[in-house]
Amino acid sequence: MQAIRIHSYGGPEVVRVEDAPRPQLKAGEILVRVKAAGVNAVDWKIRQGNMGFLNLQFPVTLGCDLAGTVEGSGEEIYAYCALTRNGAFAEYAIVLPGEYAPKPKTLGFVEAASIPVASLTAWQGLFDHGKLQAGQRVLVHGAAGMVGAMAVQLAKRKGAYVIGTASGDNLDYIRSLGADETVDYKSERFEDKVHDIDLVFDTVGGETQQRSFTVLRDGGALISTVQPPAQETALQRGIKAAMFGALPNGETLREVARLIDAGEIRTRIDSVFPMPKGLDALARSESGKAKGKIVIEIA
Ligand SMILES: NC(=O)c1ccc[n+]([C@@H]2O[C@H](COP(=O)([O-])OP(=O)(O)OC[C@H]3O[C@@H](n4cnc5c(N)ncnc54)[C@H](OP(=O)(O)O)[C@@H]3O)[C@@H](O)[C@H]2O)c1
Repeated sequence: MQAIRIHSYGGPEVVRVEDAPRPQLKAGEILVRVKAAGVNAVDWKIRQGNMGFLNLQFPVTLGCDLAGTVEGSGEEIYAYCALTRNGAFAEYAIVLPGEYAPKPKTLGFVEAASIPVASLTAWQGLFDHGKLQAGQRVLVHGAAGMVGAMAVQLAKRKGAYVIGTASGDNLDYIRSLGADETVDYKSERFEDKVHDIDLVFDTVGGETQQRSFTVLRDGGALISTVQPPAQETALQRGIKAAMFGALPNGETLREVARLIDAGEIRTRIDSVFPMPKGLDALARSESGKAKGKIVIEIA
């Protein structure tokens, strides 16, 4: 089968579209014929060697977001397959029973493949780690990104008051997702406009994360997808400040599919690349210029 793999860490030149053996199933594993796979920043972070704690064995097949059919039954599914196994940028991939859910009925494979990692990250960040409640004020940094856009929609649905940061040409987009207030991070300082926040959901990191303590109420929470927050201020003010890694979860994906089919949340596709152009897909992700998800079409 064809797969997008690396045999060593390094720059874009270490990525190859090449022949690879089909994954060998172990007991309890499920073989999926991949139709489309979403690109995430973690794919090129793995290539760079920045995810060494995963202890991956070369050759590594990249990719973790997929939509496809279960080999044998033909069931149409979507999944975030764990980073510790061989990946989704391949004609066949392995998922575990608890990792996948039936694909949203109203979406094709390309759109479905854009959703698992982004929605699970937003869901787990807001509700499992951030304990977001109806009526609370949440600030979403990077609200126009894939994770941020899911967070805006899920937080709004929960009944929170949602403030999102994005660049100017994305403000209408995040309003359309339900943001009650917006901040153009390129021309405004969010701390001049925003205060008394219960939860900061940070998908940006760096000084954006550091400055976020000033807008949080005492006892609030700062939950990041990118970087562990400093603990000193957090401890003084009773703020829960943590980074987390999203985990596969088929049950949540079932609920997300239900929300998508009910028209309550939506996705955005930046571009679609055929498998042989997979390197261009990774380069576009790394450029930071995408507006929405980049998807590799496998079949
Ligand atoms: N921990 C985990 O399990 C996990 C899971 C998924 C993702 N992540 C990480 O989370 C991050 C976001 O992922 P993603 O898939 O949402 O990426 P993405 O779709 O590429 O979105 C990134 C967004 O960041 C925005 N941005 C950049 N600088 C900003 C700033 N200073 N203030 C506000 N927004 C800013 C950009 O907004 P504009 O276009 O408006 O400029 C862009 O829309 C990545 O670093 C990724 O590796 C972690």
